[in-house]
Amino acid sequence: MKDYKRILVTAALPYANGPVHIGHLAGCYLPADIYVRYQRAQQRDIQFVGGSDEHGVPITIRAMKEGVTPQQIVDKYHTIIKQSFADMGISFDIYSRTSNPVHHQTSADFFRNLYDKGLFEEKETEQYFDEKANVFLADRYITGTCPVCGNPNAYGDQCEKCGSSLSPEQLINPHSTLSDAVPVKRKTKHWYFPLQNYESWLKQWVLEEHKDWKNNVYGQCKSWLDNGLQSRAMTRDSNWGVKVPLPDAEGKVLYVWFDAPIGYISATKELTDKWADYWCREDTKLVHFIGKDNIVFHCIIFPAMLKAHGDFVLPDNVPANEFLNIEGEKVSTSRNWAVWVHEYVKDFPGCEDVLRYVLCANAPETKDNDFTWKDFQDRNNSELVAIFGNFVNRAFVLMHKLCGGKVPPLHSEIIDEKDRQLMEDIAAAKANVTRNIEEYRFREALFEVIDLARKGNKYMQEKEPWIKAKQVSEGGTAGELAQKEIDNCLHLSLQLTANLAILINPFLPSTAKKMLHMMKVVDKMLDWENAGSLKLLSVGYSLRAPELLFRKIEDAEITAQVDKLRSNTIKPGTAKEKKPEIAVVSPLKPEIVYDDFAKLDLRVATITAAAKVEKADKLLKLEVDLGFEKRTIVSGIAMHFKPEDIVGKQVVVVANLAPRKMRGIESNGMILMAEDSSGKLHFINPEDMIEPGAGVS
Ligand code: MF3
Ligand code: ZN
Repeated sequence: MKDYKRILVTAALPYANGPVHIGHLAGCYLPADIYVRYQRAQQRDIQFVGGSDEHGVPITIRAMKEGVTPQQIVDKYHTIIKQSFADMGISFDIYSRTSNPVHHQTSADFFRNLYDKGLFEEKETEQYFDEKANVFLADRYITGTCPVCGNPNAYGDQCEKCGSSLSPEQLINPHSTLSDAVPVKRKTKHWYFPLQNYESWLKQWVLEEHKDWKNNVYGQCKSWLDNGLQSRAMTRDSNWGVKVPLPDAEGKVLYVWFDAPIGYISATKELTDKWADYWCREDTKLVHFIGKDNIVFHCIIFPAMLKAHGDFVLPDNVPANEFLNIEGEKVSTSRNWAVWVHEYVKDFPGCEDVLRYVLCANAPETKDNDFTWKDFQDRNNSELVAIFGNFVNRAFVLMHKLCGGKVPPLHSEIIDEKDRQLMEDIAAAKANVTRNIEEYRFREALFEVIDLARKGNKYMQEKEPWIKAKQVSEGGTAGELAQKEIDNCLHLSLQLTANLAILINPFLPSTAKKMLHMMKVVDKMLDWENAGSLKLLSVGYSLRAPELLFRKIEDAEITAQVDKLRSNTIKPGTAKEKKPEIAVVSPLKPEIVYDDFAKLDLRVATITAAAKVEKADKLLKLEVDLGFEKRTIVSGIAMHFKPEDIVGKQVVVVANLAPRKMRGIESNGMILMAEDSSGKLHFINPEDMIEPGAGVS
């Protein structure tokens, strides 16, 4: 074990293209927060950094689909995510974002540093390109028919129906999911990072020097390293991201997995002037909390980048969790099979500690685990309410009833075996919780705390102070002794309560706060060094009335959640069209000159006939009269208008558009419509009927 002077904890930067769900919390944010709160209680020098990952293809695609800018997407979700973390008590010292200028500068400098040392390979390759949407296409964004099973909706990297892994070349009838265009190959140049050059160093560093890493993490690293590493492109063709800081790199940005982890450095820079102490000194313990899908990036690629750069520390540990399933099924954001944090905090106000408890008790630390609402209810009602809450409540109620509302003395002459056992249990619990947290076993640590409360209940049950109270009322020496026994029982129970507050604090901070209030003590009492002490509450000190720490959760609340989950699920294929979530006008396209416009021939036409196109929900086949000729135009307006309602109406037509076949019908031109923010279409036509064929300019 190294002698570390300070700790820097990071939690994976979530993509700002959607809200966070409880799987995110369980996977990395909650364990990170527990670790950090514990270290703070230990008075260690520690910083906890996080932020939103605001670059990458999914964000640009989402923006394109919703007809807004990427900036609007990330602004929206960054705000929601940040609030969800705050509501759940995830206590970042800074929650930043990768669209910040500091980050652009920091990551561009990082790239430049490697570039100047000649560490990149420059390569030209052919990649798929969507000429309509004007973007390069990742394999995921190409669909077509699976050559293996005939599924018409297979992706360019995989068929989800038969599980075959595919490449776009293999798809029958491939098209872009963005525009329907047939992808074409285009040459493009990128900068590759030759990971193979770091392979032997990585083998030494991970496989030899970090045998202490969790099995799931070590195992994944080993399999990557055994399979051999290859060069990886660290740049992409896009307008969204950190611009590649080179003169001949127009339209190129850093690969999101190059810039995002550097976001940890940028966030620390924003947080403190002393950022370099945390990043550039060997006696910093750097710990990355992540989910399992991030392992290769944090254990292989980013460390190789850090090594290549040379100025920065490497992680001491990367405690990654596996996945949390919901009600027996994998979380799927596209199917909306998820429990969203911002919805939980609305549905269960004041219950953030309950979710923290359940997610930690059920954390997927060594294997995928399942969250069920029934289990949520059971753990709340039979552990938090019946064990922890019950013990604390009993100690307080009895102290008010039998000891005048004050901490009773401890009469050492009558301390018995049970008392001694309880004292030992407190000391042992502290040692076990400490060791487990230090070694990233948060479930175990939490069980130790609950187990201590359970022992408290048992102790109270055996001591039966309420029975002794009857003897007290009978007076005499027996009565005096009985009061002393009551005093001892409640003295120790209250010291135990104070210990429970300290030990539970990293896990359930709001609960610990409530307990402090009841005990009328200051935050300082929660310092970890106080745990194990039996002198936390002074004799004669008067305490407040007990507060309810946890409420019972009723069956109806659980049924409502299960129903909500099931009824909001989007079944694949049925495409319960998701309405765009942000209703705003689409951004302006790039400027054009008059000549660009003058190429268009716009004419007024009268619709003379309209009919549905067979097997195409969205298409109408229109006959239009342009005055000088009649034409057929196929238009995607069938969801908006009934054929019989539009016959006789006038429209503006792009009359010189090249013909195009749609569903076997040749379409000669295009009609213009206005689309409002809800996606509804409206006619654009002359105020009064005019002769068809009239030019529009
Ligand atoms: N945005 C990534 C994800 O959600 C995580 C990025 S972690 C970082 O999977 F290290 F790159 F920041
Ligand atoms: Zn298939």
